[in-house]
Amino acid sequence: MSVNWSLPFEEKIIPSKYQSKVISPSIYKELHKIATENYKEFWASIASQLEWFKPWEKVLDDSNPPFYKWFVSGEINASYLAVDRHAKSWRKNKVAIIWEGEPAEGDKPKEVRYITYGELYREVNRVAYILKEVYGLKKGDAISLYLPMIPELPIFMLAAARLGIIFSVVFSGFSAQALADRINDARAKLLVTADGGWRRGKIVPLKDIADKALENTSTVEKVLVVKRTNNNITMKEGRDEFFDNVYKQVPLNAYVEPERTKSEDPLFILYTSGTTGKPKGIVHDTGGYLTILHATMNWVFDIKDSDIMWTTADIGWITGHSYIVFGPLLEGVTTVMYEGALDYPNPDRWASIIERYGVTILYTSPTAIRSFMKLGEDVYKGRDFSSVRLMHSVGEPINPEAFRWFFRLVGKESIPFGSTWWMTETGGIMISHLPGLYLIPLKPGTNGMPLPGIDADVVNENGNPTKPEERGYLVIRKPWPGMPLTIWGDPDRYVKVYWSKFPGIFYPGDFAVKDSDGYFWILGRADEVIKVAGHRLGTYELESALIHHPAVAEAAVVGVPDPLKGEVPVAFVVLKVGQKANEELKKSLNEWVREQVGPIASLSSIYFVSKLPKTRSGKIMRRVVKAVITNQPVGDVTTLEDEASVEEVKKAYEELK
Ligand code: WTA
Repeated sequence: MSVNWSLPFEEKIIPSKYQSKVISPSIYKELHKIATENYKEFWASIASQLEWFKPWEKVLDDSNPPFYKWFVSGEINASYLAVDRHAKSWRKNKVAIIWEGEPAEGDKPKEVRYITYGELYREVNRVAYILKEVYGLKKGDAISLYLPMIPELPIFMLAAARLGIIFSVVFSGFSAQALADRINDARAKLLVTADGGWRRGKIVPLKDIADKALENTSTVEKVLVVKRTNNNITMKEGRDEFFDNVYKQVPLNAYVEPERTKSEDPLFILYTSGTTGKPKGIVHDTGGYLTILHATMNWVFDIKDSDIMWTTADIGWITGHSYIVFGPLLEGVTTVMYEGALDYPNPDRWASIIERYGVTILYTSPTAIRSFMKLGEDVYKGRDFSSVRLMHSVGEPINPEAFRWFFRLVGKESIPFGSTWWMTETGGIMISHLPGLYLIPLKPGTNGMPLPGIDADVVNENGNPTKPEERGYLVIRKPWPGMPLTIWGDPDRYVKVYWSKFPGIFYPGDFAVKDSDGYFWILGRADEVIKVAGHRLGTYELESALIHHPAVAEAAVVGVPDPLKGEVPVAFVVLKVGQKANEELKKSLNEWVREQVGPIASLSSIYFVSKLPKTRSGKIMRRVVKAVITNQPVGDVTTLEDEASVEEVKKAYEELK
C-alpha cells in the first residue's frame, strides 16, 4: 500500500509517566550498535535467563545459511516454561488466563473463566495425556487445531508443546478448502475442532466446515470435537470423538513428563500468505522463539508480575500465538482472551473488558482503533481507562490521526504507545519502542527503532542503505532468535522468498523509510500481499478461488486503500465467452470466494473487463492495475502486451466509482 499521508517525521512526544526511561535517539543508536555487533553473545545472555534442562553447545549454527539454528542442542520445553514453573511456585493460585465468552446481550458476559496456573497445569497435563496415551502421538507428529477463541485452544497448544508435537493452528475464519490445504501440507494426524464458535450472535459451524475439509484430506486419523455451541453436527463413527467424553476418563491428577525438546526442534507451523502460490507453512523453533518472546515481553511491554495483558488479536494469527499465549504465560502474568468481536453486542465492549478486568497492558490494531474512532468519543464518556499503563498496536501502519485519538482517549497522553513491526516469520516483535528498557520519544505513525541485536535497515533496489526519508525495502541483515527454521516441506521456497532478493539477508517484503533521527516507518507491503483489517491475505488465494468459478476466465486482485480497514481487495474479472456480466453474477462470485477462502476474504468490489494488463509472456501485471485505480503513475509499461487493457481497467473502475 502506498501511504499518502504526510508523515510527521519531526513531531516528538514524551509520555509523562515514562519520562525517566526516555533517552535520545542517538544514544539509543549507540546502545543498539554495541548489542548488534556482538549479537551472538548478546542473545546468549538473554536466552540464559530462561530455564534450560541442558545448556546449549553452540549459540548459533550458521554453517548452512539461511538455515540458522539457535542455541544448538540446548534442551528446553515451552509448556514447562509457560506452565509448570509457575504452577510449582507462588503463582499456583494466580490467574493465568481470563476468558470471556461472547455476551448474548448487554454489557455483562454470561460466561467468564479465571484459570489459575495451577488449573492450567492440570488441564494441560490431562490433555497431553490424551494426545500421548489415547491417540499415541509423539514428538515430531503434527496436529491441526481449528478452534474458536475458547480456553481449549491455548490448552491444546501447550499440551502439544509439552510432548514436542508440532501444532498448526488454523484461524477459524478460514473455509473448508483453506483448512484442507493446511491439514494436508502439515500432514496432521489429529484434528481438534469444535461444534461451532460464537461470532456476533451467530454460530460459525466449525465441525460442518471441518467435515467438508476432511473429504479432501488423507492424513487425519482422528477428530476431537469440543462442545461449545451445541448445534447439530454429525459424528463419524470410529473417527470423531467428543473431547468431553475422552477428557472425563483421564485421571484427575494425570502427569505427563515434558519432553526434553531441543532448542532447534519445531514448536509450531503457522500458515501465512505470500506473493505467489499457496500459503507457506512457517516453522518456528523452540529455544529461539522463547528467547525473542522473553526479550520483547520485557523490553516492549515492560511486563511486571502484577500486569493484566490484553492482546486483542485472534490466536489463529501469530500475534495471538506470541502475545496471548506463549509470551504472557512464559512471564507468569495474566493474559486476557475473549470470544466474539470487540464491538458486539455493544460498540464499546472493548472498553468494558478493559474496565472489568483492569487491563494494564493493551495490544491492539489500527483497524480496531479506527473502528472505535468512527463512533466518536461520546460513546466512551465516563469509561475508566486508568488501569492501562502501556499500549502498542500491530498489523499494519497506524495513521497519525488514529494514533493521536487513541493516545488521548485511552492513554491520556501520558503513557507509551507504539506501533510494533514484525511478522509471522519473525516470531516476535522486531521494531518498536522499548519502554521496558529505554524509551525514545514517540512520533505518531512511526514504528520506532529495531530492537537491540536486530540488524534491520532500509535499502534500495541495489541493496545499499537509503538516504533519510527515501523509500526503500526493509531488510534484516543478521540472524535473530525467533526466525523461521524453514518453510514446512519446502526449504527451497524458503531461500527463494526471503533470502534471494538481497542474497544473504532477510527480505520481509515491506516498503519502509528511515527518518533523519533513525526512526523506522513501515509503509506497507512491497509485494502482492494485502492486509485487510490487519489480516494477511495473498492475492493469489483470492484469484485462484475466482478462476475456479465456472464463469471466470481470468482474474486480477489488488489491494486498494480503505479508510477503515487499511486495505481492501478488489477484483478485475474476465468472464468466459457467453457469460453475462451482471449484479447477480457479482454477488455469486463474492459468495464463492468467501466459501473457498473463508469469511475474511470478502471482495470489496468486482469489475468486469474484457482483458487484463499482461506481459508478453502472459503474466498479469497487478502493479499496473493497482496504479490505475489508485491514480498513481503507471510506470514502465514497455513489457505490456496490449496497452488498451489499461484503458479497459480505467473505464471499468471509473464507471462504477
Ligand atoms: C504488516 C503480523 C506497519 C507488515 C504481526 C508486515 C505492519 C505484515 C506493522 C506481517 C506495523 C505488521 N506497522 N506494518 N506496526 N505490523 N505490519 O505476518 O506489512 O500477519 O509485513 O504478522 O504486517 O503480517 P503478519
